[in-house]
Amino acid sequence: MDLGIKGKRVLVTASSKGIGFATAKRFLEEGAIVTISSRNQESLASAYNKLHSLGQVYMVPADLTNSRDVENLVKEAHNMMGGLDVTVYVTGSPKPGNLLELTNDDWHQGFHLLLMSAVIAVRESSKYMKSGGRIILSTSMTLKQPIDNLDLSNVVRLSLAGLIRTASRELGPKGILVNGVMPGWTLTERVNQLSKDRARREGKTEEQVLSDIVREVPLGRIGLPEEVANVILFLSSSLSTYVTGALIPVDGGLIRSTL
Ligand SMILES: NC(=O)c1ccc[n+]([C@@H]2O[C@H](COP(=O)([O-])OP(=O)(O)OC[C@H]3O[C@@H](n4cnc5c(N)ncnc54)[C@H](OP(=O)(O)O)[C@@H]3O)[C@@H](O)[C@H]2O)c1
Repeated sequence: MDLGIKGKRVLVTASSKGIGFATAKRFLEEGAIVTISSRNQESLASAYNKLHSLGQVYMVPADLTNSRDVENLVKEAHNMMGGLDVTVYVTGSPKPGNLLELTNDDWHQGFHLLLMSAVIAVRESSKYMKSGGRIILSTSMTLKQPIDNLDLSNVVRLSLAGLIRTASRELGPKGILVNGVMPGWTLTERVNQLSKDRARREGKTEEQVLSDIVREVPLGRIGLPEEVANVILFLSSSLSTYVTGALIPVDGGLIRSTL
């Protein structure tokens, strides 16, 4: 099936690993031109080496907590690809911790990582999308259902719901569709990091923590990053032309709230 992705110029942020990497890979498999990015030059180069046989791929190092880096990333991606049709915003993971553990600095860092980077990525991308485009923000199930000891995610990420709705209204008249996905538990390094943290807090093994997690998921398993990537691909494709301002869970049914 032709998804209308071929030849589209796509920026995927935080894409040397995990959900971002899987997304960049799926776009390349569908014939898109892709710019990947992350902080660490080595892991970025390693991702580039894994991807470049699939198609036209560029890389730009950027730390999403640094506003200038985010502005430069969007500009460089646009210049290298000769335009920008789709921006997929993924970010790094915030430090785990609860109210008594997290410091003011942690909150400032979380604000830059999870909110400011998204605002800048949306704003700058929209400037380059002269004849319409797609912006998809990958957030988290914590938008709908807080997770214990993930306070930065529970609190700061919630503002992305406001950003997605607001940007969809402001950019709709320019033909730019803005949507979000909310991954549930997804098999990446982040799950290892969180299961270690939870095992330490609860005095359990990591295996016990993982089986507790799986028990909460109606589909009975942790998701794969490709399963998140496929929903992002759909929202960027010619099959999706009348969805904007939406936030779609990709969580195996984990989120309990009805609305
Ligand atoms: N996995 C899950 O179960 C799950 C569920 C819900 C939400 N999420 C969220 O989804 C996002 C991606 O998670 P993941 O599971 O794919 O994580 P991951 O496998 O650990 O990958 C994280 C990626 O982000 C990059 N990164 C980290 N900090 C960055 C920064 N400051 N600036 C630019 N790039 C940065 C990393 O590369 P460098 O280290 O080279 O920068 C890496 O490419 C995170 O925000 C995570 O909290 C994950």
